Amino acid sequence: MHFIGIDLGTTSVRALLMSEDGKVVRTVSRDYPIEMDGRGWSQQNPDDWWDGTAAALRELTSGADAGDIGAVSFSGQMHGLVLLDERDRVIRPAILWNDQRTQAQCDYLNNAVGRTKLLESVANVALTGFTAPKILWVKENEPENFKKISKIMLPKDYIAYKLSGVFATDFSDASGMLLLDVKNGKWSDFMLGVAGVDKNQLAPLYRSYEAVGAVTPEAAALTGLSPRTLVVAGGGDQAVGAVGVGAVLDNTCSISLGTSGVFFVASDNFNVDKNPSALHSFRHANGKFHMMGVTLAAAASNKWWVEDILKASDYGAEQAGVRGLGKNQVFFLPYLSGERTPYNDPSARGAFVGMNLLTTRADMTLAVMEGVAYSLRDTLEAVKRLGVSPKSGRLIGGGAKSPLWSQIIADVLDMRIEKIASTEGPAYGAALLAAVGWSSAGRIARPSGQSGGAFASVEEACALCVEVTDVYEPDADTAARYTEKYRIYAGLYGELKETFAEIAK
Ligand code: XUL
Repeated sequence: MHFIGIDLGTTSVRALLMSEDGKVVRTVSRDYPIEMDGRGWSQQNPDDWWDGTAAALRELTSGADAGDIGAVSFSGQMHGLVLLDERDRVIRPAILWNDQRTQAQCDYLNNAVGRTKLLESVANVALTGFTAPKILWVKENEPENFKKISKIMLPKDYIAYKLSGVFATDFSDASGMLLLDVKNGKWSDFMLGVAGVDKNQLAPLYRSYEAVGAVTPEAAALTGLSPRTLVVAGGGDQAVGAVGVGAVLDNTCSISLGTSGVFFVASDNFNVDKNPSALHSFRHANGKFHMMGVTLAAAASNKWWVEDILKASDYGAEQAGVRGLGKNQVFFLPYLSGERTPYNDPSARGAFVGMNLLTTRADMTLAVMEGVAYSLRDTLEAVKRLGVSPKSGRLIGGGAKSPLWSQIIADVLDMRIEKIASTEGPAYGAALLAAVGWSSAGRIARPSGQSGGAFASVEEACALCVEVTDVYEPDADTAARYTEKYRIYAGLYGELKETFAEIAK
């Protein structure tokens, strides 16, 4: 038996074929356009997602035995607003997670409705990326489109709908809509009222590893899948990426050093950050919970420094000269794209502080890597204030290729850091969810006569399939020095906040 994971990303869709013992057989991907403009709008056509996905699936399944593909599941770019009318036509382009048009709606939600009420009903405060502010924007700016809404869905749910004909969403992705009562796992009547949404316009909620239906004969003909292939709900890309690296047990983390950086901690219990630190509190794809914080420019800071400023391309050569972890007097604030966690401040800027005439290029290179690590520690500290004590982290993303940066992360976070064999986080996590959904009874009985590829739970799938290849233990002395230095770093934003706002005027 084989399983397919589909990662519906922002620039491309990736489809991964996995054997029942968790081996990646092959992957294919298709790009699609994104429409961005000077107003901070960011949109995509949902049918481009579907065309790309169908083409990727056709290539992936060509030469394969369709009857041998048990289930397909998803990891999706989160928060995007997809609107369908009563004849299931897309009403307007999808408004994506990185679209910035909703500042006025967020101000209304955070101030007039109030952060306390939001935290109480949906466990998160409003950020421009989230879905409910986008719905309010459509209501206020495109009333004729708002009136036509029959179904509101998230990006990956549109693909599941095209494949199965079933209108469904999952708890992890729904958490990022600002409409889900995350604690109790149901739509929040209060927030539906605020957003002007009727419950019938929202999909029934499924667990990420639950089958919602099977591939329709039309979709089967288009994709090369079989009508016996189950469609499993899937989840938001951060939660499913965490499944792909095996961060599912209580207090385990996934730390991503991609363009942006994400500190993600899996938790068996619900927690909500009452401080306005922009820590997200969402449902995990294993049916439990997670919290996460985002550093908007992580590997992007390093790339900017090495490529744009130093005009270099050999990252290893730049890092070879670095000495003295925990002793650097130079600090770097990585707020090159503003910052999400913990400041939620789009006007924040990058800064180097502490140079003198003896400062070297290597000190500044080190400061950039340390600054990103400190910023991830901001999220760790917010998580710890809630009484959650993360134990270890799985490091992924482009930055994880650097052994030096991996060690810095271990020392700054004072945490054991593990790297894993697969680099396919979200698509692999989606394939594991497909396998778990296929194995468990779900809402749809598994087609009779099929066997193999059985995982009792997401946790079991991760334990059996995700392989740790490298471990970085924190060095006690260096970690202690970094704890001192982190205090200096954590004070710098407060010193510069007003200056940043003035510069951004
Ligand atoms: C999560 C988030 C991103 C998007 C796009 O909150 O904004 O992970 O899902 O990848």
